[in-house]
Amino acid sequence: MHMMAAWWVCGFLPLLAVAAATGDGAKGSSEPLIRLSTENGHAPAPSPAASAAEEGVTKWAVLVAGSSGYGNYRHQADVCHAYQILKKGGLKDENIVVFMYDDIADNPDNPRRGVVINHPKGKDVYHGVPKDYTGEQVTAKNLYAVLLGNKTAVTGGSRKVINSKPNDHIFIYYTDHGSPGSLGMPNGPNVYADDFIKVLRQKHASKSYSKMIIYVEACESGSIFEGLLPQDLNIYVTTAANAVESSWAAYCPGMEMPPPPEYDTCLGDLYSVSWMEDSETHNLKKETIKQQYEVVKARTAPLNESSIGSHVMEYGDKTFKGDMLFLYQGFDPAKLNIRNRPLPTPSLKGAIKQRYADILFMWKKYEKLNVGSEEKLRALREVKETVLHRKHLDSSIDFIGKLVFGFEKGSSVLGAVRGSGQPLVDDWDCLKIMVRVFESHCGSLTWYGIKYMRAFANICNNGISKTKMKEASINACDGYDLGKWSPLVRGHSA
Ligand SMILES: *[C@@H]1O[C@H](CO)[C@@H](O)[C@H](O)[C@H]1NC(C)=O
Ligand SMILES: *[C@@H]1O[C@H](CO)[C@@H](O)[C@H](O)[C@H]1NC(C)=O
Repeated sequence: MHMMAAWWVCGFLPLLAVAAATGDGAKGSSEPLIRLSTENGHAPAPSPAASAAEEGVTKWAVLVAGSSGYGNYRHQADVCHAYQILKKGGLKDENIVVFMYDDIADNPDNPRRGVVINHPKGKDVYHGVPKDYTGEQVTAKNLYAVLLGNKTAVTGGSRKVINSKPNDHIFIYYTDHGSPGSLGMPNGPNVYADDFIKVLRQKHASKSYSKMIIYVEACESGSIFEGLLPQDLNIYVTTAANAVESSWAAYCPGMEMPPPPEYDTCLGDLYSVSWMEDSETHNLKKETIKQQYEVVKARTAPLNESSIGSHVMEYGDKTFKGDMLFLYQGFDPAKLNIRNRPLPTPSLKGAIKQRYADILFMWKKYEKLNVGSEEKLRALREVKETVLHRKHLDSSIDFIGKLVFGFEKGSSVLGAVRGSGQPLVDDWDCLKIMVRVFESHCGSLTWYGIKYMRAFANICNNGISKTKMKEASINACDGYDLGKWSPLVRGHSA
């Protein structure tokens, strides 16, 4: 039964099933062993070439947590942890740019004020993390400006940018909610695949790096690159999920590897903790990009079609996968004498789909509060409003599909998935327009509703006009009180 104790984060997990699953299955689960081929002696010995490869190469990193709010604790925890690994690896603060909302450590809901952990037994990872772009400065626009090394295009923040040179290496790590074709940002609009790829092309054209690695944890993260990322940009990418599936949170309450009891929230994400726990337990001068990809893929993978987990994907230029990881993530001298051993994978059967993790937090918080208290009523109202808005999004999008494509075909046209290797949508501007039209009449998509990005893409792929979309949105949502879900309050996600 331990399979049941998994938690997704992007799709809809019925809440009751989550509750029912929490007690199960801690016993008797076998812990799969992940084997690195290094233990078989396959890894090349550190060669003089390895140090020569480092000469005159500055390692840069951009770390992005795309969410905010205590219910999304895990994304900022991931990013803080990643910073600590790179810092220990010798990357300099001046070369690491951190985007995080920074509302976790001192959040009133945080049981350990000033501390952020990314593992149930983990130490604080918050201390020392540079606050380059926090709060309202965490935007797609600032991210692009930072990547392009364009200080004048940055708004607020430390104004630190990736001012890299032709020989340099860049490591980008992003963690958050995603959707087909977009990655969330705590301040709208989202990062859209077309814009992100355009920025990468520009960066390449400016000849200001030699190689780049990008790790992305988000639902449907494969859709950001699938059919879109060229292979000749010297960029290698791995994503937590393929283009059509959720990615998963880890170390969630009630699961097999729960956080300490005082925590109501998930501490990390499955793909993210997999690469980080691998990096910090290995000698990165002896582990290749490819080996890490395989370890993470194995640890994140679902056992079968109906179990938890996602398919880690790779995109872009696969010719330099044999590079040692230290060339990007640095090298911690404390790991010098580590023999890269098989990593006994802690069971991560406690994973939840990204899109449900915040609801879980709201419920856990509600359950803990004293009966009859003002706070409990407020928590109840919050969870109820959130659930109702999600239902509204589900039904209004379904309704629009029927209005536009007819009762019989509506859902299948909205849900249609293009063949692999094809981008989500041909006209990205159309996609963004449809999102805005919808949000203006039906309310903010929120982190949950961005899962319908494929429906909007299909509306565009089928040539529906803005006027027709507007009419359908008005018909579907007329009379719905937007209230706190108004895009005027929350910003548009496109
Ligand atoms: C940097 O950004 C500014 C403001 O957006 C823009 O005008 C300028 O062309 C950019 N510079 C480069 C080198 O791209
Ligand atoms: C999937 O794997 C789980 C856990 O090992 C097992 O209990 C379940 O029967 C499998 N389901 C299918 C459809 O094979």
